[in-house]
Amino acid sequence: MRIILSGSTVYLVFILLCFALIACTAKKRTSIYRILFDGVPEEVGDIVLQDSLAISDSTEFENAQNSKIINTEFYFHAVYQQKECDACHEISQGNVLLEQPPELCYGCHDDYREENTVLHGPVGAGMCLTCHNPHFAKNEKLLLKKKDELCLDCHESGLVYQNEVHDGVERSDCLECHNPHASQEMYMLN
Ligand code: HEC
Ligand code: HEC
Ligand code: HEC
Ligand code: HEC
Ligand code: HEC
Repeated sequence: MRIILSGSTVYLVFILLCFALIACTAKKRTSIYRILFDGVPEEVGDIVLQDSLAISDSTEFENAQNSKIINTEFYFHAVYQQKECDACHEISQGNVLLEQPPELCYGCHDDYREENTVLHGPVGAGMCLTCHNPHFAKNEKLLLKKKDELCLDCHESGLVYQNEVHDGVERSDCLECHNPHASQEMYMLN
């Protein structure tokens, strides 16, 4: 999915996409959490770990029940791995979150809105989950995409490379000069 960077249209497309995603998955999620939390309270951690891994691979839940966890394929969020589900979820109500991101995340991590003059679009919008999975991911730092895809997934590469400051820059180099979240400098420069 490529979005051409032009001010407020970016936000609009972005927000519409998010709604579309939520709409498609809402039904599946409800049924999954029922099985996970009501059906098997005692071993909730293990079972969900297994099921969530399967969900991330978009496999059917039925298949997931029989699948094995291959931990080495994933990087885990420390709190998830330690099965501190209740640090983020109101367990008695299934997968209901105690708070929505970004407040949920800022409860444990530094708030980028403090001490920064420039916030990255999606960070300012509080959309941590457009780049991070809250549980685990195949990429380091819980990133949903590989380093060479992450930035140019939203930023049209043609436009990025039109700017001569990017001459010779590799697709995976972006973080050498830009902070992904926020900065004191324009363009989130380091
Ligand atoms: C760091 C906070 C955090 C922790 C810890 C955490 N979760 Fe979540 N969880 C989330 C967020 C945020 C979402 C919403 C994801 C979304 O909207 O895409 C979520 C969604 C879910 C869902 C809905 C289905 C899905 O995968 O989107 C289930 C089920 C779930 N969590 C189970 C668990 C279990 C079980 C644990 C403990 C082993 C756990 N979570 C630990 C933050 C957390
Ligand atoms: C209950 C506390 C808690 C909450 C809430 C929380 N985290 Fe974390 N997070 C941690 C801990 C502990 C670590 C591991 C130690 C560290 O790197 O600070 C961590 C690490 C991370 C890392 C680095 C992972 C790595 O492999 O180095 C990312 C990215 C991250 N969290 C994102 C988030 C996002 C996004 C949210 C909100 C959805 C969130 N966290 C909510 C406690 C939390
Ligand atoms: C545009 C994508 C993007 C968004 C949106 C985003 N992050 Fe990140 N985040 C990254 C990348 C890339 C890294 C890895 C940075 C590195 O390796 O130097 C990272 C790393 C982290 C880390 C690990 C510590 C660090 O700074 O390296 C934490 C914690 C974190 N993010 C939390 C958050 C929270 C909380 C939000 C929402 C307020 C958020 N992120 C939104 C891309 C993003
Ligand atoms: C989820 C979509 C998304 C991802 C992924 C993403 N960005 Fe952005 N980025 C945006 C939005 C939205 C803006 C705000 C656009 C605007 O203000 O015109 C923005 C703005 C920027 C700006 C400032 C542009 C300006 O004109 O002020 C820079 C620099 C930037 N992003 C770099 C990056 C880098 C580096 C990465 C990879 C770590 C990245 N972006 C990943 C959506 C994204
Ligand atoms: C060598 C350092 C460097 C690297 C690496 C780098 N940038 Fe930049 N980038 C800059 C500078 C400097 C600016 C400020 C541009 C200006 O002053 O015209 C900028 C501006 C931007 C902007 C806003 C202005 C524009 O041209 O649209 C975006 C978006 C952006 N970078 C994205 C990226 C992405 C995506 C990557 C990775 C493919 C990347 N940058 C890698 C230095 C870098």
